[in-house]
Amino acid sequence: MRILVTGGAGYVGGFTARWLQKAGHEITVLDDLSSGHRAAVEFGTLVVGDVGDAQTVRKLLADCRAEAVIHFAASVQVGESVEQPSLYWRNNVANTLTLLEGMIEAGIRRFVFSSSAATYGPSDSETLREDAPTDPQSPYGATKLTIERIAHDFARAYGLGFAALRYFNACGASPDGAHGEDHSPESHLIPRLLRASLEGGEKFRLFGDDWSTADGSCVRDYVHVDDLAAAHQATLLACRDGQGRVYNVGTGRGHSVLEVIRSVERVTGSPVPCETAPRREGDVARLVACPDRLRQELAWEPAWRDLDSMVETAWAWHQRHPDGYGD
Ligand SMILES: NC(=O)c1ccc[n+]([C@@H]2O[C@H](COP(=O)([O-])OP(=O)(O)OC[C@H]3O[C@@H](n4cnc5c(N)ncnc54)[C@H](O)[C@@H]3O)[C@@H](O)[C@H]2O)c1
Repeated sequence: MRILVTGGAGYVGGFTARWLQKAGHEITVLDDLSSGHRAAVEFGTLVVGDVGDAQTVRKLLADCRAEAVIHFAASVQVGESVEQPSLYWRNNVANTLTLLEGMIEAGIRRFVFSSSAATYGPSDSETLREDAPTDPQSPYGATKLTIERIAHDFARAYGLGFAALRYFNACGASPDGAHGEDHSPESHLIPRLLRASLEGGEKFRLFGDDWSTADGSCVRDYVHVDDLAAAHQATLLACRDGQGRVYNVGTGRGHSVLEVIRSVERVTGSPVPCETAPRREGDVARLVACPDRLRQELAWEPAWRDLDSMVETAWAWHQRHPDGYGD
């Protein structure tokens, strides 16, 4: 399939683009490099541009004769979204609308996009199914839920066939060490812990140790980017005109922050210096997926289940690329 991948110079998008190209698809990446890296686009063609620019989108969809769009491009920092909601509503919602309008105009109906577990509200359930109540705790989560609603409306009115993938916590790097995580600032737990474990690394700040969890730290579901890439391929092929489906993408297993710290210490062989800080606005105690829908409907299974193995891939990337992509 000829696929336009927005945000394909970023972490999950770059990884998935590489994975899809290897699976035989023809990839064109649209990325404004606001947080992505040229070097992350090893496969396919990179066009530097903004998803919110209607002319760029229209021309590109025609030039690459796209049959489908996978949409990763977004502003992605929960904390920043609380401070600058305008940026998030503009980049995530308004720009996605421009992309979707361009797709419909060009007759392209297949759409897979990166939603998030941040669409769910606080819950006492061990795991969350897709029909759990949504109640985003941050503008970031609210923008993702809004895009889901827009996609549903476009399915009904214009025949869009889409899958919204609610990722839990993406983690890890390619086992060959070629592609990994390089955000600036880095807000994701595993890379922050890996940096803290290095000699002279900044102390890790544990945001709250009084959550209602077994050890008082937040519990999350860590899913390897390899498994996320496979989920994109499976859902893309399953898209049907006029139908939309929401899928959780997680392993179904939760790990507390303290457990992840211990895993990083085992993998690196170094202690992680920590200090406790107040809870962060927008956080919830526990976010763990029930991935049964993806499993039952599309036979997706996470190949990566062991936390230490996932951390090992991230550690291998950080050792080979101490300055990330170096740009
Ligand atoms: N990483 C996670 O754990 C996680 C969890 C849930 C959801 N998500 C979602 O997955 C997607 C990818 O996340 P990521 O961690 O790879 O983020 P990332 O920041 O690494 O990648 C986002 C990419 O989009 C590009 N971009 C942003 N705005 C753009 C615009 N207007 N036009 C063109 N390009 C633009 C950036 O340059 C970057 O390359 C995002 O939509 C994010 O919200 C990620």
